[in-house]
Amino acid sequence: MAASVLTRLALTDFRSYARAELALDGRPVWLAGPNGAGKTNLLEAVSFLIPGRGLRGSGLAEVGRRLPGEAAGRAWAVAVTVRVGGDDDGETRLGTGVETAGAVRRVVRVEGEPAPPGRLAEHLRQVWLTPAQDRLFLEGAAERRRFFDRLVFAAEPIHAAHVQAYEKALRERMRLLTDGPADAAWLDALEARMAEAGALMAEARARTLTALTAEIATRGERPFPLARLSLTGEWERLALEGADFADIEARLAKALAPVRERDAAAGRALTGPHRGDLAVVHAEKDRPAAECSTGEQKALVLNLILAQAARLARAEGHPSPILLLDEVAAHLDARRRAALFDEIEALSLQAFLTGTDEMLFDGLAGRAQGLRVEGSELVEIGR
Ligand SMILES: Nc1ncnc2c1ncn2[C@@H]1O[C@H](COP(=O)(O)OP(=O)(O)OP(=O)(O)O)[C@@H](O)[C@H]1O
Ligand SMILES: [Mg+2]
Repeated sequence: MAASVLTRLALTDFRSYARAELALDGRPVWLAGPNGAGKTNLLEAVSFLIPGRGLRGSGLAEVGRRLPGEAAGRAWAVAVTVRVGGDDDGETRLGTGVETAGAVRRVVRVEGEPAPPGRLAEHLRQVWLTPAQDRLFLEGAAERRRFFDRLVFAAEPIHAAHVQAYEKALRERMRLLTDGPADAAWLDALEARMAEAGALMAEARARTLTALTAEIATRGERPFPLARLSLTGEWERLALEGADFADIEARLAKALAPVRERDAAAGRALTGPHRGDLAVVHAEKDRPAAECSTGEQKALVLNLILAQAARLARAEGHPSPILLLDEVAAHLDARRRAALFDEIEALSLQAFLTGTDEMLFDGLAGRAQGLRVEGSELVEIGR
C-alpha cells in the first residue's frame, strides 16, 4: 500500500499560531527552533486530524489561540490535504476545529462536508512519541494502557469506541454500586455491556501484541534495543491463549456479578480489562524497562512505535500512518540518531520530527524538508 502523506497543512488560531500554511512534498519534515517556538504545537495540530484529543490530550477550548487577557480560546481550524500513493486523484481534504470560541464539540469536514470524527480514520492514521512518554515505564499501569491502546487504535480505530463503551458502563455500574439503588437487573445489563466491550478490547489488544511481537522479531538486530512485550491482564491473556470472543465475554460477565459488594466497598472496580498492564523487557539485557537507563527506555519505546508503524505501513486496505516524533532526536546518541533517520527513510512514511537545534538533523540533509520555527513563524530551509 502506498503511503498516505500530507501535502498541505494550514492552521488558523491554533495555539500560538495566528495563521500558518505549509506545502509538503512527502519527505520527512523536521522543525527546529528554540523553546516555545511552536514546534510541538504544530505536531499537535496534525494530531487533531484523527479522532481523539490530540497528542497532549487537551480540551478543545485549550487549543484555540488565546492572547494575554483573553478569557477563552478562539475558534480554530486545522486543514490538510492527504495524498495517497503519489496519485493526484487520490487527494482528500480534511479539516477540523471549533467554529465558535469555547465550543465543546469539534467539527470535522471531509472534502468540505461535515462528517463524524470517526471518518478521519478512513484517511489518516498516526503514531506518535512525545516527551511525556519519557516517563512511561516509571508511571502507573494506566499510562501504559493508554499508550498501548493508542497503538491498537492506529491499527483498529474501532478500538477507541469499544474502550469508551466499556468505560461508560464501568462508571455507571460503580455509580449504582456506591450511590444505589443497586437494581440487580440494571447491574446485569451494565455488566453485559462491559463484558461485550471488554472482550472486544482484550481481543484487539491481543492482536496488536501478537503482531508487534512478530514485527519486532523480524526486524532483528537494530541499534534500538529489542523489546519483549507482554500484557498482564487476565482477559488479554485469555485472548492470547486463543479463547474465542463468546468465551471471553461470558467469563467476564460471570466474573463481575459476584464482586459487586467487593467493588462497592473498594470504591472502584477491581476486575476487567481496565486493570492490566503492558510489561516491557529489554530483551538483550533481560531487564525490565523500568530498570533501564533513560536513553535505553526512550529507544525501547521508539522501537515499539517504529515496529507498529512498519507493520501498518505494509498492511493493505487502510491508510499508512504518519509519524509524529516530538523531541526524539535529542535523546539519542549520534549512532542511534542516524539509524532513526535511515529507518524513517526505509519505511517511506511521512514523519514530523522536532528538535531545538538544526544540527540534530544534519544526518537528514538532502532527504528531508527542514523548517526553522521562531515565534510561531515557519521558515523553510533549503537543504
Ligand atoms: N492556546 C494558546 N494560545 C496562545 N499561545 C499558546 C496557547 N497554548 C500554548 N501557547 C504557547 O505556545 C508556545 C509554543 O509552544 P510549543 O509547545 O509548541 O513550543 P516548542 O517549540 O515545542 O518548545 P519546546 O522546545 O520547549 O518544547 C508557548 O509559548 C505557549 O505558551
Ligand atoms: Mg515542544
